[in-house]
Amino acid sequence: MLTLVSLCLLLAAGLLLVAAAMANHLARKRKGVAKGLPGPGAWPVLGSLHLLGGHETPFHAFTALAKRYGQIYQMRLGASRCVVVNSFALIKEVLITKGAHFGGRPDFIRFHQLFGGDRDNSLALCDWSDLQKTRRRIARFYCSPRFASPQFSQLSAVAGSETARLLQRIRAHGPGALHVKPLIQATCANMFANYMCSMSFDYDDAGFQQVVQNFDEIFWDINQGYAVDFLPWLLPVYQGHMKQLQQWAHNIRQFILTRVVAAHRERMQQGGPASDFTDALLQHLESDPELTWQHAIFELEDFLGGHSAVGNLIMLTLAAVVKYPEVGAKIQAEIKKVAGDGRPINLFDRSVMPYTEATILETLRVTSSPIVPHVATEDSSISGYEIPKGTVVFLNNYELNTGEEYWKEPETFKPERFVVEDQVVKPSHFIPFSTGKRTCIGSKLVQSFTFAVVTSILQNFDISAGQGKIELPKACVALPPKTFSLVFTARQTIAQ
Ligand code: HEM
Repeated sequence: MLTLVSLCLLLAAGLLLVAAAMANHLARKRKGVAKGLPGPGAWPVLGSLHLLGGHETPFHAFTALAKRYGQIYQMRLGASRCVVVNSFALIKEVLITKGAHFGGRPDFIRFHQLFGGDRDNSLALCDWSDLQKTRRRIARFYCSPRFASPQFSQLSAVAGSETARLLQRIRAHGPGALHVKPLIQATCANMFANYMCSMSFDYDDAGFQQVVQNFDEIFWDINQGYAVDFLPWLLPVYQGHMKQLQQWAHNIRQFILTRVVAAHRERMQQGGPASDFTDALLQHLESDPELTWQHAIFELEDFLGGHSAVGNLIMLTLAAVVKYPEVGAKIQAEIKKVAGDGRPINLFDRSVMPYTEATILETLRVTSSPIVPHVATEDSSISGYEIPKGTVVFLNNYELNTGEEYWKEPETFKPERFVVEDQVVKPSHFIPFSTGKRTCIGSKLVQSFTFAVVTSILQNFDISAGQGKIELPKACVALPPKTFSLVFTARQTIAQ
């Protein structure tokens, strides 16, 4: 009996595969997959997903496949038609020259789950639209403050007061190994909350701790690839995971509504002046019929959530300092040169601390955060190959960051590569925050806050490994929420 059932199942599976293969063949003909573009063959149903599996990261697989198929090739991942571009010239073509044709994002179910069932609520995961232009415009003023503008001074003051609180907590812990990631994430969350919402939370506030942790879990999750992204019929297997994502997102939204927005609304209703990003958003809501309450809350959430990326980058920079102690010593020498043994470092010092700045860039280079995939929003072409609307485009910036064609000794961690005559110089192919119309809005905040936290820690402490392996991940700027601990040994200085 069992054999008969198994036989029937096998037969059904075989028929399904044949049907899927035929459907795939017909779909290829119908949709006119980029004509003449080379690329690996596709299995029914899975496409070429299996080819991404045998490598350290999918980006290593993209580089390996480029050796075989060239700088641009096509592949099918599950039901999605994809193109991978590997060289700087082609990446520029997609992001800049033809940026207007490639401004969409993939339609992954996970992205919808995180943003109230609609990924268009998210600034980073939505498709391009007029609304997106408006949202970016509102954000830019606060996220890219000009040097020495009032916003810049405020950013520096916020960074100074919040890092002082962090140092106090580290001192209070003493010399044993400290699981410092939650603390650093809380500091970053407070820097963002302070700068964007004029409020700061107690480190022992349970609601705040929970939300900081939820943001970190989401940041880790969003940096992972899951089969369900390309094989949506696997959804029933991922029900638990999707529920978890919804729960984290719900907790965050509740916190923002009750602990952040409510107070701002009340103040504004009483006629108080607009003084921060949250006020500016709420004001826009009144004056711009296109912007809904939902959009405004999600925009605030997106930006406050940016702290998670910063906290992860700080952890990675500290990991690099522990792994390469000479790097930490050089940063400390630069701190001493600029501030002597006295005052705390501030953001105005950044421009005269090229080595420290370069260490953050080198950390971004070796970890190489992937550029979020783009999607063709109309029929277009890349390098003369036709690219139909709906094609997902992967931009292999891992190759840009680590390829021998672009860097001398790419495997070596060497901040000096970014310093020329005491100035930070970035080669044009180094685009950790991407380029073009969907470029990262948070890059200035990232560099400022990372600088502030790393320098204040190294000004006051020598750091060494605690528990857990210290490794810099590849093609990922996220560390798991539970990660290595560090030992902080107070230095005989200064800025208390
Ligand atoms: C380690 C830190 C960060 C890195 C490496 C990073 C990098 C990136 C990259 C590569 C993109 C994709 C651009 C594209 O698709 O062409 C992006 C998009 C974006 N980033 Fe960041 N980012 C970081 C932190 C932040 C922070 C702190 C914020 C907010 C304050 C932020 C806000 C955004 C937004 C809103 C987008 C989407 C823009 C759009 O699609 O129109 N990012 N980021």
